Amino acid sequence: MNIANVHNGERTLTVKWDDESHTEYPYIWLRDNDPAELHPDTRERVFDLTSVDVTIKPVDVTAEDRALSITWPSKADPSVYPADWLHAHQPGAGRYDPADVSRQLWLGADLDPIPRANAAECRQDSKALRSMLADLKRFGLVIVDHLDDDLEAGLNFGDLIGYKRDNNFGATFTVISKPDPNNLAYTAVELPLHTDLPNQEHVPGYQFLHAFKNTATGGESVFADGFAICQDFKSESPDDYALLASTDVPWRFHDDTHDIRSHRPIIGELSDGTLDAFAFNAHIADLPDMSTERMIRYYSAYQRLMKHMRQAKYAVRYRLKAGEMAAFDNYRVLHGRTAFDPESGERHYQGYYIDRVEVDSRLRVLDRGN
Ligand code: OGA
Ligand code: ZN
Repeated sequence: MNIANVHNGERTLTVKWDDESHTEYPYIWLRDNDPAELHPDTRERVFDLTSVDVTIKPVDVTAEDRALSITWPSKADPSVYPADWLHAHQPGAGRYDPADVSRQLWLGADLDPIPRANAAECRQDSKALRSMLADLKRFGLVIVDHLDDDLEAGLNFGDLIGYKRDNNFGATFTVISKPDPNNLAYTAVELPLHTDLPNQEHVPGYQFLHAFKNTATGGESVFADGFAICQDFKSESPDDYALLASTDVPWRFHDDTHDIRSHRPIIGELSDGTLDAFAFNAHIADLPDMSTERMIRYYSAYQRLMKHMRQAKYAVRYRLKAGEMAAFDNYRVLHGRTAFDPESGERHYQGYYIDRVEVDSRLRVLDRGN
């Protein structure tokens, strides 16, 4: 977009564009974000904001089609702002972000079949990985297939994305039925729909569960879109929704060596009220500790939500085959499994978490040059 002309105001510079639209830039923002005042290698800001008056005004502004040149007090060389750069960074317009993938909420029937990605293709082709990650953000659930018959194969896939999130179960955890388990996942019992680790200071972002061996009877995976559940729940029971969005619930994991506790609401909202997180794990809900009056309302809202989310329409069921891995958004998608019979065969899963920032960062890097 070309610059048609500019107008100097008291605290702002208004740029009128070729297409008659205009944008108002605060002078202090222009001074603080001079593209030339970034470190040449790191691209980090080196300008010190305290070195100028926040009511700073230009000494001179020269507008050309493709750039603005501004002379500032106490700065020898004029600062140059390319028109495209200015147009791409209009105040209030938000910044283009390749990791902004809009969510598509689903019922079980909408996600049958579950979106898939081929691990070998993702390794060779950055477009395939990008589309896998975009689906993971859009639907919150992807089945990765064509993994090698190797315990490391699921972990190696994670390396294409980013750092694994270490935690008390380890950076990777083995999901088998074992003696002396410290987690219900490490038994053969049914796991009702839940999200993992709401007891952590920061809930892990995405979970990856690789079926390395799966010959035992049972152990089918169940998933549901917690945001679709919350959206319906909000319109059906707005008061219960509001209560669950504003009540800090205690969560706790404890074994011989750990006692990890955090409070957080079941429904997490951003400051503008949009739904951002769903934390639901009845097994590790600690003793509710809110006031008696709130507790009575909490139990009724919590139970209503629990019944609501168990409606069959929300669930999609899939039995992972060996060499497949489920990847899902642990802030949104609930997961569970049916019971399995450990005597009937071998069920050996391996899991890990990767945080949301890592997935977003990979999406942005994969978008470069496109
Ligand atoms: C888990 C879990 C499901 C499964 O390990 O967090 O929920 O299918 N496992 O074993
Ligand atoms: Zn789990």
